[in-house]
Amino acid sequence: MARLDPSTYHIPVMLRECLDAMLLHQSGLIVDGTLGGGGHTAAILAEAPSESIVMSFDADEKAIEHCRERFADELSRGEASRLRLVHANFSTMAEVIAASNLPLQSVLLDLGVSSYQFDHHERGFSFRMMAPLDMRFMPEGETAADILNRRTEPELATIFREYGDEPQAWRLAKAVGQRRALAKLTTTADLRDVVIQHIPPHHQPKTLARLFQALRIAVNDELGRLERTLTSIIPLLQPGGRIVVMSYHSGEDRIVKNVFKAHTDVLTIVTKKAVEAQPDELATNPRSRSARLRVAERRP
Ligand SMILES: C[S@@+](CC[C@H](N)C(=O)[O-])C[C@H]1O[C@@H](n2cnc3c(N)ncnc32)[C@H](O)[C@@H]1O
Repeated sequence: MARLDPSTYHIPVMLRECLDAMLLHQSGLIVDGTLGGGGHTAAILAEAPSESIVMSFDADEKAIEHCRERFADELSRGEASRLRLVHANFSTMAEVIAASNLPLQSVLLDLGVSSYQFDHHERGFSFRMMAPLDMRFMPEGETAADILNRRTEPELATIFREYGDEPQAWRLAKAVGQRRALAKLTTTADLRDVVIQHIPPHHQPKTLARLFQALRIAVNDELGRLERTLTSIIPLLQPGGRIVVMSYHSGEDRIVKNVFKAHTDVLTIVTKKAVEAQPDELATNPRSRSARLRVAERRP
């Protein structure tokens, strides 16, 4: 893969806030569960004590390839390298962390997709690009097309409503049902046509964004994996260790809030209210607009 300018791949969101929340001065294992373009990982490596190990996960092979290039110098140190790139779903992190035998200081999750995946990917994450309706981070399990063609209309309506906050969920699920009775949906254009036929033009971009987000969340079981991951890493945190999560969707944010609340016997909730990006960042990075940061700390 051609080397990309990191700022073209993805501009990290709330970088300063995340770094401060991770308490990097305390040494131990630092995990970035969502490597993406490596923006947060690069800053963590720069700020964490030299004895800290940074383990960064991504399910998307393209992100891992990009970061192998970006961090080639650090990785060339072999055994002495402070960085470990893990091509895996972050839902496997508890096992990998436990196997490392390192004390877990902090975990960062910057959820969703990167700008690179959104703008350049051939897997149909964006309704603006003509591509197969795939949306899987890894090539396994059901695609977005499988879900649209196989699930019942009530199931589709639930996906559109719960993962996309789509007010016309029922109407659109029925419209998909009618369309697939004629021919299966296979491309982003097929789903766009359904929306164009049933939604007035000025609502179409928002409806499309909600539907595509809902399908991506369903395809990758993003909410289920998030809940299981958070629950599995809490017992592994060292006292004073931190979990830092940035969500971009109300369903994700609700899960983070609820998992933290359900574990207040061992966790202190550091952010009573979700933290939002500052006006200067909002003005320069549109992705930061929907970001909500929550932090919890393991009790001594
Ligand atoms: C918002 S981007 C992260 C951007 C990154 N913080 C940066 O500064 O470049 C999210 C990344 O997490 C990955 N991802 C999302 N869900 C994942 C999961 N369950 N397991 C592993 N990687 C995941 C995506 O493939 C994507 O590359």
